[in-house]
This record gives sequence, structure tokens and C-alpha cells, in this order.
Amino acid sequence: MLQDRFNRLISYLRISVTDRCNFRCVYCMPEEGVELAPRAEILSFEEIARVVRVGASLGLSKIRLTGGEPTVRRDLPQLVSMLRAIPQIGEIAMTTNAALLDELAAPLQMAGLNRVNISLDTLNPEKAAQIARRDYFGRVLAGIDAARRANLGLKFNTVVMRGLNDDELPALLDFARSYEAQIRFIEYMPMGMARFDERNRLVTSQETRAILASRFDLVPETENGDPARGYVCRETGARAGFISSMSDHFCDSCNRMRLTAQGGLRPCLHQNAEVDACAIMRGGGSDEELRGAFLEAAGLKWAGHRMNDVIPLFSSKEMVSIGG
Ligand code: 5AD
Ligand code: SF4
Repeated sequence: MLQDRFNRLISYLRISVTDRCNFRCVYCMPEEGVELAPRAEILSFEEIARVVRVGASLGLSKIRLTGGEPTVRRDLPQLVSMLRAIPQIGEIAMTTNAALLDELAAPLQMAGLNRVNISLDTLNPEKAAQIARRDYFGRVLAGIDAARRANLGLKFNTVVMRGLNDDELPALLDFARSYEAQIRFIEYMPMGMARFDERNRLVTSQETRAILASRFDLVPETENGDPARGYVCRETGARAGFISSMSDHFCDSCNRMRLTAQGGLRPCLHQNAEVDACAIMRGGGSDEELRGAFLEAAGLKWAGHRMNDVIPLFSSKEMVSIGG
């Protein structure tokens, strides 16, 4: 069993399968991109599957593939089928910008992927190009349709940013409803060098909810341990979630750990600590040693993130390098 010092059980591993991305989102990385790891340092599929097998023997049951952008990793469906073959693993999900889903949604679903969370910050093509610093909005829409055709579970993620997309919240909610999907409105978090205009851009979940509540009657859903507090719109049945990492963090019920593309087991997105599982594997280490790495990383978990301390502590890495 994987338990931390605060009696939280770790059952959910978020795996960054690449540090590369085909977008350059303003909230995720600086314009020039970030320094990429040499390809030889990126874990192979066999290495990722080995880490997951060992984690599964300690109680991991849920996996999420992230990046960078996971779909830019070649042959991703092959990794999904390798993970699907691990008996303890139930849900396999992925967070994606959807630009490559048009071709990949069906093969990924066939390989055993259950659901995707798609980043969708705006419905306006010009703004999409401004936020992602890439003009791929048409492909994103095609990717969303492909995910639905492939019967993947669907959620949308929107980072709410003042002056950028805070005027589109009802339209985004409506769009998600047309796919019968929940949309989660996420508070912008200052990360690495991408901390753009941080004070001014943050729109708290409370404010986001107030903007929507002026148009819709939002009824809270019962809590289910999801960091996104869920609401249903009484008029339309649309479902919204609010992820308040900054204003009301959900660290008390944290059940997660991360594996970076280079094989670092990371106790938290916002904590500069890693246990090097890659070095263990490439040094000929045993599964028992890998189990030790999991236990060590779990033991390093803080009670909660420290972005709101009097002297705030941020991860020095960009979001794209850790996995969203
Ligand atoms: N703040 C909040 N969410 C972020 N993401 C990336 N960077 C940030 C940030 N600074 C999330 C977005 C995106 C996912 C990949 O990571 O929701 O959908
Ligand atoms: Fe790429 Fe996602 Fe970061 Fe955007 S948020 S740059 S799509 S990893």
C-alpha cells in the first residue's frame, strides 16, 4: 500500500509520456518554449509499463497520460495497450489538446483508453491561436468530434483568464453540454517561467461561478472526491466543475503522484522533489528498489501545496515539463 505521512492513500498516477508539445499555451510555457530533455533520457514504453506494474502492486489503480502533449509521442496506442494489460489498472485517461485526436482517438480507444480531458479555453479561433500561440483550432474541433465518435468519455478543461476568456464562460458551458460533457473551469496557477501577469489574470472559482450563476441556476452535485466541485445547470442540464487550486485547494484528499517523462517520481505538481526511478531501472535495479522509490516519493508529500504561503513556494519547472 502507498500511504503518505498524512494517511492519504496514493492510487492515481499521472504519467508524462513526453515533454514535447505542439502548442505553446501562454499559461503553460514561455513563448520560446522550454529546454527539452535529450530523447535518450525519456522513458521507453517498457520502462513506463514497469513503473506502473510496480506501482500497481502497491495499490495504483488509475492512470492518466499527460505531457507535454501525450499524443505527440509516437505509437502512443501501443503504450496504452501495455498499460491495459496490467490487471490492477482500472481507468486509463488522458489529458490532451485534441489537435491530433482526429487520427488517434479510435486507435487509442481500441487499445484501452477510457476517457480524455480536452483543453478548451475559448471558442473563438483568433483567441485560440493567441492562447496556444498556434493556429490549430480547426483540428481541435475535429479531434473533439473524433473522441466522441470513438465513444471516449469526454470532459473539457478551461483555464479561466481575466481579459482573455472570462467573457465566454456561458458559451463554453453550452458547447460542453452539446457533447453531454462536464466542463471544468480551472484557476490559473503560476508555474515556472510561464507566470504571465499572474496577479491580474487569476479569476477565482468563486468569481467564475458568480459569472455563470448570473445566467444559470447552478445546483451543487454531491461531493465525490473529485477535485472539481460539480454543479448542474437547472435550465439546461449542463455540468460544470470548478477546480480551485489557488483559492481553496483540495490537497487534503490528494490521492496522486506523478511520473515525469524522464522517470522522476514526483510527490506533487507544486513541490520541487523527485525520486529518480529511471536511474534505478537503468542501473539494473530490482522491482523491490522501484517499490522503495514509490514509498520514498509518497513519504515526501507535503500536507498541501505552498503557493499561498506568505513567501510562496512554486515549482521551478514549467507545467509542460511536469505534466498538467
Ligand atoms: N494553470 C492552470 N492550469 C494549467 N494547465 C496548464 N498550465 C496551467 C496553469 N498555469 C492545465 C490546463 C491544460 C492542462 C494540460 O494543464 O488545464 O488543459
Ligand atoms: Fe501544450 Fe498543454 Fe502546455 Fe498547452 S497546456 S502548451 S497544449 S502541454
